[in-house]
Amino acid sequence: MARILITSGPTRQYIDPVRYLTNASSGRMGAALASAAIGLGHDVVIISGPVQVEYPQAARVIPVRTTDEMLDAAQNEFARCDGAIGAAAPCDYMPRVVSEQKLSKTGHPIQLELVETPDVVATLGQQKRDDQWVVGFALETEDHRFRATVKLQKKHCDLIVSNGPQAIDSQENEVELLDVHGDVIADIRGSKEVVADELLRHIDQRLVV
Ligand code: C5P
Repeated sequence: MARILITSGPTRQYIDPVRYLTNASSGRMGAALASAAIGLGHDVVIISGPVQVEYPQAARVIPVRTTDEMLDAAQNEFARCDGAIGAAAPCDYMPRVVSEQKLSKTGHPIQLELVETPDVVATLGQQKRDDQWVVGFALETEDHRFRATVKLQKKHCDLIVSNGPQAIDSQENEVELLDVHGDVIADIRGSKEVVADELLRHIDQRLVV
């Protein structure tokens, strides 16, 4: 039995106390992966951005809002885990300056300067011990396999799940699971539950000792 950390859902990056940048990630893939892992007898901790989805009762859920909070929680938990699956879609940019007060309309355009947020999966990949593993996701609109493999290497993942933009906020998914050489280990399509079950079987066989 392994202890698996799953990041799930979107994050928010606030512009002012009431406005934020985010994306339409539903958390469904994370929830399906958690159920699949629990079904195989693993312990699961989910670090989730704000979502409506119901996570399995047997999982411990740590709610976060921003990418920085997701990173902090992930780093705290990862030390006690055997592996991590990065199914979240963290917001990649944050305003350089966050206004403490609600921005008032002036009738003029405003400009937001955005800086990159930290990469949770890349940080875990860099910090993982020899006995730990990390599986990332890569959402690409072109040249899927090549770009996903480059991402896997850059983020020090052990496996990467390549999917297209149709995965966002949908019940279905179509994915390829790639290894460090860019070889396709599995080509799976179906509901996110079917995809998650199959992915977990491969992760279990290859990475869980
Ligand atoms: O670079 P890209 O966002 O396509 O990478 C996707 C993978 O990286 C996913 O596993 C996602 O959870 C993770 N990621 C992350 N932190 C970010 C951006 C992406 O963990 N800030």
